Amino acid sequence: MSVVSPRVRDASRRLATHDARDGLAAVPERTRVRHGAVGRRLQIAWTPRPVQDLDARLPRDKPMKDNASREEISYRERQVPHPVLDRYYASERDRRPFILDLFDGAASNYDLVCALLSLGSGQSYRRAALARSGLCAGMTLLDVAVGTGLVARAAMDILHDPRSVIGLDPSSGMLREARKTLAIPLVLGTAEKLPFGSDRFDRLSMGYALRHVADLGVSFRECLRVLKPGGRILILEISRPSSRVGRFFVQIYLQKVLPPIVRILTRSGHAQMLMTYYWDTIAECVEPAIILEILGTSGFGKVERRVVGGIFSEYTGVKPAT
Ligand SMILES: C[S@@+](CC[C@H](N)C(=O)[O-])C[C@H]1O[C@@H](n2cnc3c(N)ncnc32)[C@H](O)[C@@H]1O
Repeated sequence: MSVVSPRVRDASRRLATHDARDGLAAVPERTRVRHGAVGRRLQIAWTPRPVQDLDARLPRDKPMKDNASREEISYRERQVPHPVLDRYYASERDRRPFILDLFDGAASNYDLVCALLSLGSGQSYRRAALARSGLCAGMTLLDVAVGTGLVARAAMDILHDPRSVIGLDPSSGMLREARKTLAIPLVLGTAEKLPFGSDRFDRLSMGYALRHVADLGVSFRECLRVLKPGGRILILEISRPSSRVGRFFVQIYLQKVLPPIVRILTRSGHAQMLMTYYWDTIAECVEPAIILEILGTSGFGKVERRVVGGIFSEYTGVKPAT
C-alpha cells in the first residue's frame, strides 16, 4: 500500500515556501556561505529530478529494450541503496517526496526516537566516531544529512567553533529543529548535489542517511569533490547483524518493541513510521562490501569499514592528494 499523500506530492512546492518562511538557506554552487547570514539567502538550489517510474528491483544486467529511453537507461544504471519499498511508496519517483514528508513530520520527535534507539548512547558514540576519523580542532566539517544536528553537535564538542561546521539537509523540518540548538550555518540541499565549491572541507560526515540518497555513486562523488585533497569522509550507518540471532533480536526491537512505545510517547504517526521504515531500509540495504566498492570507484582511497557493537558501521575514505 502506498502511503504517499497529496501532501507528499506537493513536497517540492512546500520546500520552497518553507525555505522562504523559515529563512533556511539553499545556496547555489560556488556561493560562499557567510556565517550568520546564511538564513537570508532564499535561492532554491534543490529541485527534485524527475525520474522514470521504473522498479528499482529490475536486475541491472537485464538487456535493455532497443527503444529504452535515455532516462530509463540512466535510471537502471543508478546505484540505489535499496530497492523500492512499496509498503511505503509506489515507485522510485515517489521515494524522495516520501522521505521528505517522513522526516518533516517526525522532526520534532526525532531526538527522542534516536535516544530510544540508541538507549541514550548515541551522542557519545557519534563523538567517538568523529574523533576516530581524525576530526580535531582547526578543521572544517560539512555534515551532510545534518537532521536535527546530532552529528554536528558532537562535532562542535571537538571543534568548539560554530564557523567550522556547516550542516546540510533536504528536510526543512529537520533543519528547523537543528536551528533551535545550533548556531552553525544550515543549508537546504541533498548529498547528490552539494551546493559548495570544490576542495572546500577537511572532513565530511554523513550520519544514518546513506539509505536515503537516490544514488550512492553520485552522492559519494559529490562528497569527494567538496573535500580538500587529503580530506576524509565518515559515513555512519546501521548494518544488519551478521548472525541470524542478532538479526532476529534487532528486528524485533526496531519493528515490534519500539514503534508502539514511540507512538505512545509522541502520539505521532510519522515518528512511529520512521521506526518501521528504519528497519525495512536496513534489512533491504545493499551489502557493506558494495558500499566500500562504490566508495572506491567514486575516487576515494584508503576505504575502510569499522564495525562497532556488531551493527554500527563506520565507513571512511580519503580523497587522494593531487
Ligand atoms: C536518520 S536522519 C539522520 C540525522 C543525523 N545525521 C543523525 O545522525 O541523527 C537522516 C537524515 O537524512 C536526510 N536526508 C534524506 N535524504 C537525503 C539526501 N538525499 N541527501 C542528504 N540528506 C538526506 C533526512 O532529511 C534526515 O534528516
